[in-house]
Amino acid sequence: MDVVSLERGFGSFSEHWSPRVAAGLNGQEVKLAKLLGEFVWHHHEAEDELFLVHKGVLRMRYRDRRGDASSEREVVVRAGEFVVVPRGVEHRPCADQEVEVVLFEPASTLNTGNVRDERTVERPARLRG
Ligand code: NI
Repeated sequence: MDVVSLERGFGSFSEHWSPRVAAGLNGQEVKLAKLLGEFVWHHHEAEDELFLVHKGVLRMRYRDRRGDASSEREVVVRAGEFVVVPRGVEHRPCADQEVEVVLFEPASTLNTGNVRDERTVERPARLRG
């Protein structure tokens, strides 16, 4: 029942694409993440993902599951705005400059979804402080 400060939370780490677990509830987790650059295209078979932008401008790119470039589209999410990426939808978060996001998703959700690469975080660290 402690208060969680986003300012303090985001101030406690600097790594990009390395989510920190801030809280858990009802099988879901609230994670804080810093993004910079382009992430890997991926989808989550069974989980919807919420991205709430705390700082910066997130470009969320979408495309169809075949990876057809002509199907690509993008939404821009600014501080104070959020987007829900539905399960099964191929997406790629992009941050031209550093973005701070609050993620809300099932605890089992892997950051890279169906893909495993060097940015896959199997067990996100707990936020400290
Ligand atoms: Ni995702």
